[in-house]
This record gives sequence, structure tokens and C-alpha cells, in this order.
Amino acid sequence: MRIVSGIQPTGNLHLGNYLGAIRNWARLQEQVGKAGGDCFFFLADLHAISMPHDARGLANATREIAAAVIACGIDADRSVLFNQAQVPSHAELQWLLNGTARMGWLNRMTQFKDKSGKNREGASAALFTYPVLQAADVLLYQTTHVPVGEDQKQHLELARDIAQKFNNDYCSEDAPLFTLPEPMIPPEAARIMSLRDGTAKMSKSDPSDMSRINLSDDPDTMMKKVKKAKTDPEPLPSEPAGLEGRPEALNLVSIYAALTDTSVAGVLAEFGGEGFGKFKAALGELLVEHLGPVTARFNELKRDVEQIDAILARGAARAREAAAPTLSGAYQALGFLR
Ligand code: TYM
Repeated sequence: MRIVSGIQPTGNLHLGNYLGAIRNWARLQEQVGKAGGDCFFFLADLHAISMPHDARGLANATREIAAAVIACGIDADRSVLFNQAQVPSHAELQWLLNGTARMGWLNRMTQFKDKSGKNREGASAALFTYPVLQAADVLLYQTTHVPVGEDQKQHLELARDIAQKFNNDYCSEDAPLFTLPEPMIPPEAARIMSLRDGTAKMSKSDPSDMSRINLSDDPDTMMKKVKKAKTDPEPLPSEPAGLEGRPEALNLVSIYAALTDTSVAGVLAEFGGEGFGKFKAALGELLVEHLGPVTARFNELKRDVEQIDAILARGAARAREAAAPTLSGAYQALGFLR
């Protein structure tokens, strides 16, 4: 097994990133390491320029998210941890794959539609071709599995389509260049929603900080955000069917289920019939208990800029080496004189 996944270094790491992706990265690092596979995790800084960004803050934002990922349990000795900008093969393979990706495929990407909104003409070309860079990120390493939240599923399907078409068009049937990657999406935390609106994804770009739990929040802030989370006046049902049409309640129960590694049904068996006062207090305590140690490690690590830079430089050297054979295979398959 080869595991690869990335996160953009924009804004704070939040509970959606943690439960949807990074907690799984840490678990896979354990399991895959024992089974003889390996893991590559990266800060997708090249992706960050697809939206207006703060050039003066980018390097520090990259270091901060690296510190957060390490605080969540990624061990840079066991996994390869790096930022894309130090591994030029990502941008190179993207260009080579641009010849295979179809405009029609990119036009269907919902994230482009969401992020460009009504201003499609003013969106950057990078926002449009971003999914091709994401395909390059995974195809470069012969990735078998990609742990992500549900919002990235469509991008991974595109990566498979690109890999398949490239293999068909430029490789012989018995020697395809690219491995087709599988997404790994956690069942109870595939899509953590905003605390203010159960129909919107928890996101770094939501202007309201009350909509998300940040990994950098102190315990009082976490508690306050949970207590103020939007809910409805009904008590919790004792069966999952009773959460239909109650997105905010479903979201809080799903967060509880993900944190305790149970199911929504399991949480309702315990809390069915209870009001939100009791449930929110229990959820707040659970969050503080889980995230408190992560936050403490993060606050300590992020001060050590030299150590973070050294970790990322070492990871990048390993990633460049691992990427070289596939990149060179892609140049060769396309017929370049090199
Ligand atoms: P990004 O930075 O938006 O998010 C990082 C990871 O967190 C997951 N996630 C969520 N999961 C559940 N609920 C949520 N509310 C939530 N919000 C975010 C995302 O699904 C993701 O797994 N394009 C990617 C980064 C990327 C990448 C890649 C990922 C670039 N190249 C190659 C995998 C493989 C992104 O912007 O994720």
C-alpha cells in the first residue's frame, strides 16, 4: 500500500480536516508501516495560489500547518512529510497531464463552480486546472489509497480518469505507467458541517469563526462554540431515522460518533430522549479531551521554525527521489527528446 494525501496551508486546521482526513493519516501511518507500505503527506502550497493569497504569509502558513499535522501524530521519520513547492515534479507532471485531462471533465468539477461562484471569468486559470495538479500529486507516487474527506472524492475520480486515459493512450496494455488510486473516506466524519448551518461544510473560508472548531482553540473557546452551536428544540431521537430533516443535530451526533469511534446509532442509543443541554456538555468535554493534547503540542512545535524547516527539507528530498521514476516514465511515454 502506498498512501498519499495533502492539505492546503490556508487558514487554521479545523475539526473537519482532523476527523475527515488527518486523524486517518495518523492511523494509516501505524497500520501501513506495520504492513510494509509507506505514507506521503504534504502541504499543498502550490494549490494555495489558485485563490487570492497573501504572499508574505504563505511560508509561515505552510510551517504552521506542518506543525499542526505533526501535532496530530504524523511522525516525519515514519512518513514522508513535505511541501509541494520543494518538489518541482508535481508542477512538471501537472503540465504533462494537462495534455490528457479534458476541458469537459474539468468543467464538471463542483469545487470550481463553488469557489468561482458568479465570477467565473475572473477566476484564476489555476483554480480551473487545480484538479490536474491534484491528480499529479497522487499519480506521481504510484499511490494506491488516498485518505480524504468526501469533498475530495470527485477530484480523485478525475485523477483515475486521467490515469486511465494516459495509460490507454501512451502505454502498452501490459505496462501501464500509472496506478489507479482509491479514495478512503471515513464513514462517520466524511463531511463535518458548520456549527452555524448544518447544510454547509465546516470550512476554513467561512467568515464566522463560530462555525468551526479550530485545532488552535483553547478549551473555553471549544466549549463556548459547542454550547452556541445551532440546534433545534426537540430532544435527541433514539434511532438515526429521527435525525432526518435535522442537519444540525445529525452533525453534532456524527462528531460525537467519530470522536468515540462509534456509529450515529450507537450515540443515539446512549443519548436518545436527552435534550441538547446535556448532550452539548458531553460533546464539549469530549472535544477538549481529544484535541487538548494536540493543541498543546501544536503550540509548542510551531515556535520551532528551524526544526519544521529541517523536517520539510528532508521530506522534500525523499519525495523528489520517490517521484523521479514516474515523472521520467511520463516524459518517455509522451515521446520527448531528453
Ligand atoms: P483541504 O485543504 O480543503 O482539506 C484537507 C482535508 O480535509 C478534508 N476536509 C473535510 N473532511 C470532512 N469534513 C469537512 N468539513 C472537511 N473539510 C475539509 C478534505 O476532504 C481533505 O481531505 N485539494 C485538497 C488538498 C489536496 C489533496 C491532494 C488531497 C491537494 N492535492 C492530493 C489529497 C490528494 C484540499 O484542498 O483539501
